[in-house]
Amino acid sequence: MNNPVHPHATTGNAANAATAPLSFIDVVRARHCCRGFLRQPVPDAVIEEVLKDAQCAPSNCNTQPWATHIVSGAKVGELSQALFKAAGEGRYSPDFSFDQAAFSGRYAERIAEQGKAYYGALCVARDDEQSRIAAVALNYSFFDAPHVALLFMPSIGDNVRVAGDIGMYGQNFLLSLVARGLGGVPQTSLGFFAGTIREALGVPDDMKLLFGISFGYPDLKAAGNSFAMPHDPIAMNVTFHR
Ligand SMILES: Cc1cc2nc3c(=O)[nH]c(=O)nc-3n(C[C@H](O)[C@H](O)[C@H](O)COP(=O)(O)O)c2cc1C
Repeated sequence: MNNPVHPHATTGNAANAATAPLSFIDVVRARHCCRGFLRQPVPDAVIEEVLKDAQCAPSNCNTQPWATHIVSGAKVGELSQALFKAAGEGRYSPDFSFDQAAFSGRYAERIAEQGKAYYGALCVARDDEQSRIAAVALNYSFFDAPHVALLFMPSIGDNVRVAGDIGMYGQNFLLSLVARGLGGVPQTSLGFFAGTIREALGVPDDMKLLFGISFGYPDLKAAGNSFAMPHDPIAMNVTFHR
């Protein structure tokens, strides 16, 4: 199949980022999560442009409530070690819950389809508990990405409006990556270790971690990039009133 992660990358390296710019429609329709990266770091100047694109996101009353921490270089390995240690000891410290069991109907079906596609791509059998745990743990090594953005936010009211703003910011970030020949994956699984990440990065307790985005140049040969989740037809989600 054509690699789903990046529409004009053929080898997944920095040279591809220099090819003709993609249209917005190409970018938005071709974006898929990238779960396998080359070790090659992204130049600081490119990361800065991605951050400027993300910064253009709309927010409630223009509050711009995101606080982004970019981890690169040796710090990536250090953070990964801290996450593996916390996960091994069962030290979860989420700021926000996410309970897959709370979803039902078509939502639950989509969760199952996503799991099947992911574990299938990694050749992990349904009943192979150890391999499943290892597949989830790829999140803690950022799927080999050379960079990870941690999206923190202040805790205000019931947090729903602020979290919505962070989502807007995150999508700008992800689309900007794709437009620049890069790939990224948002990760709630990093949010399950908010306390560990705060401690490792020296982030104050009053800043809450919604999710992270691992990013870099896609490794087009990685098993994690060999599938693309389908998105339902718009009729499943849209009601027209005319
Ligand atoms: C806020 C958020 C958190 C996510 N957390 C994870 C995660 O922890 N690990 C992961 O592999 N994918 C994660 N995903 C990626 C979703 O599984 C993915 O977006 C979905 O399956 C649709 O696939 P696509 O983005 O490739 O179109 C997350 C996505 C979002 C928006």
